[in-house]
Amino acid sequence: MYKILVVGGGGREHAILWKLKQGSREVELFCAPGNGGTAQLAENVPIKADDVEGIVDWAKQNGMDMVFVAPDDPLALGMVDALQEAGIRTFGPTKAAAEIEWSKSYSKWLMKKYGIPTAEFEVFDEADQAIGYLKTAKYPIVVKADGLALGKGVLICEDFEQAKQAVSDIMLDKKFGNAGARVVIEEFMTGPEVSVLTFCDGKTIVPMLPAQDHKRAYDNDEGLNTGGMGTFAPTLKFTKEMQEYAQKEIFEKTVQALNAEGRIFKGVIFFGLMLTPDGVKVLEYNARLGDPETQSVFMLLNSDLLEVIDAVIDGTLDRMTLDWKDGSAVCVVMASGGYPQKYENGKLIEGLDSIEDGVVVFHAGTRKEGGKCYTNGGRVLGVTATGKDIADARKKAYANIETINFEDAQYRTDIGIK
Ligand code: AMP
Ligand code: GLY
Repeated sequence: MYKILVVGGGGREHAILWKLKQGSREVELFCAPGNGGTAQLAENVPIKADDVEGIVDWAKQNGMDMVFVAPDDPLALGMVDALQEAGIRTFGPTKAAAEIEWSKSYSKWLMKKYGIPTAEFEVFDEADQAIGYLKTAKYPIVVKADGLALGKGVLICEDFEQAKQAVSDIMLDKKFGNAGARVVIEEFMTGPEVSVLTFCDGKTIVPMLPAQDHKRAYDNDEGLNTGGMGTFAPTLKFTKEMQEYAQKEIFEKTVQALNAEGRIFKGVIFFGLMLTPDGVKVLEYNARLGDPETQSVFMLLNSDLLEVIDAVIDGTLDRMTLDWKDGSAVCVVMASGGYPQKYENGKLIEGLDSIEDGVVVFHAGTRKEGGKCYTNGGRVLGVTATGKDIADARKKAYANIETINFEDAQYRTDIGIK
């Protein structure tokens, strides 16, 4: 049997396992550390996702045929490089290729050098120089911590006082730790945001269906930024014309840029795009699948995921076309009350047995114990439905949410409306 280890423990990893299980090849699945949902499809392995040595040793000892590294932290720590050095077949970019996500200044420098459309920017290593620049800047302006900060290191500032405070929080008070040793200060752009996940084998880049995320905690985009409270796919805002433009001027140029820099990228490049009045521009790169974008996008993917993974690793993506279902998918995240700030774990989750056919509940922060499921994180579940259009998929997702229950559950009621 073909043994696969998926590294990570959220809704995205549950969706990867769910999709692998449907493929034509018989697979034996493992997930480290996994959650209450992945335990239904795979054997959970109690090793943290960022424990590079622990994962490599376990994968070697247990004869994994392939390891899929899904989250950003282990990619930034070089887990793929370490697995490859140990002779293990691995899906995901090397540390050097993943720098397009773990250093915003690197990604901005790369885009500028190769003429990939993005916001104008400056980079600073010293707070007083950043503040000096802000005195004569145009507002609003965007201040970003350079490194990984769980999507929280981006501050949109209306005036000099706010921007000065942002620089001080990031660089002097180290609110985001080492991620804030350097800041990127960026022109403020406007327009709808689209998430395009792509498979890339180092030469060919193939986009998946475009999705939209909902990052704010509450309805009408109010409240704090989160990891994502819900997604839908495909989005009609990303027109055919924009897709053709992005393929040539953004996706293919990015692959060429990475190759020219000697950083062959094999894995998933996730383009955070903004559809600005001046055209499509890159907000940010991620070197991995999005969470919860993957949940809705994979529900619509007909192609065999393992075949796509093999094509990425072997460099044969040019011989492959992705096959998609008609219709739409909507994923609504049920979170713990209080998320993204303080929340409690350990609430009993009820109603998971009465989900309709065609609706999948991907687990994010859950834990199984004695046959029961308990909350174990900020984002708890991703209730995901397909339908003939967004409205239909939305209706199904929310109808099924009604039947699931845990104390203080919090979710947005407007996913897929905008
Ligand atoms: P990022 O992590 O760089 O994608 O930023 C997180 C969020 O901040 C994005 O999804 C946007 O909503 C917002 N954002 C980032 N950069 C800009 C920008 N240059 N102009 C306007 N909004 C931005
Ligand atoms: N949902 C946004 C992300 O995965 O970064």
